[in-house]
Amino acid sequence: MYVSASLMCADPLNIGKDVRELDRAGIDFWHMDIMDGVYVPNLALNFETIKAVAAISDVSIDAHLMVDCPEDYVEMCASAGVNYLSFHIEQVQFPNRLIQRIKSLGMKAGVAINPSTSPESLRYIMDQLDYVLVMTVEPGFAGQKFIDSTLPKITAIANMAKELELTLPIQVDGNINVETASKALAAGASIFVAGTSSVFKKGGTLGENLQTFKAEVLANTSAS
Ligand code: DX5
Ligand code: ZN
Repeated sequence: MYVSASLMCADPLNIGKDVRELDRAGIDFWHMDIMDGVYVPNLALNFETIKAVAAISDVSIDAHLMVDCPEDYVEMCASAGVNYLSFHIEQVQFPNRLIQRIKSLGMKAGVAINPSTSPESLRYIMDQLDYVLVMTVEPGFAGQKFIDSTLPKITAIANMAKELELTLPIQVDGNINVETASKALAAGASIFVAGTSSVFKKGGTLGENLQTFKAEVLANTSAS
């Protein structure tokens, strides 16, 4: 399992401290949400923050575009230091073209799907993708409740990839805690976006939260 720390959930007054601490603790990715206040009624991180994180950490940056026109942000993501870039399929008319543009700028390309979007929307682009992001809450806000009907979708996507003989990592985003991550892992997910429900929850240090989260999910998986 891989954990991608959702930096919109970091302490806004101490983001550098949080990044350094999780870097030392062995985090796998930085999940950086880009919102435009139009596609979703919220704002999150920006390109200056992405550059600042890239300057102090070698961990890969996984950016998630929740914007009206993802096409407009691809170059800025590449020059800010993004390594993995996902956009919402619901928002794009020509996904193949956008996937190729992302790849041509040296980034891995992912497609995000909302809780109400059918896994079938991925069938004819799957072979072009480096990963899929299954939203397990509606996009835009931290602290929401996991939507259970997203679990069979993860399995459907994993089966579809298998049918097509593709290796396609599935990332899950939204209320990912020990319980929901264990279910999503069993369903076929392998990259877990960790926000206020796990790594950034109140209690232990970020490093301790990360270690406990991983250990408990893996223990649940081997017990079942
Ligand atoms: C939106 C964000 C959120 C959030 C995850 O794409 O990525 O889903 O940070 O954290 P929680 O655990 O608060 O849902
Ligand atoms: Zn996200």
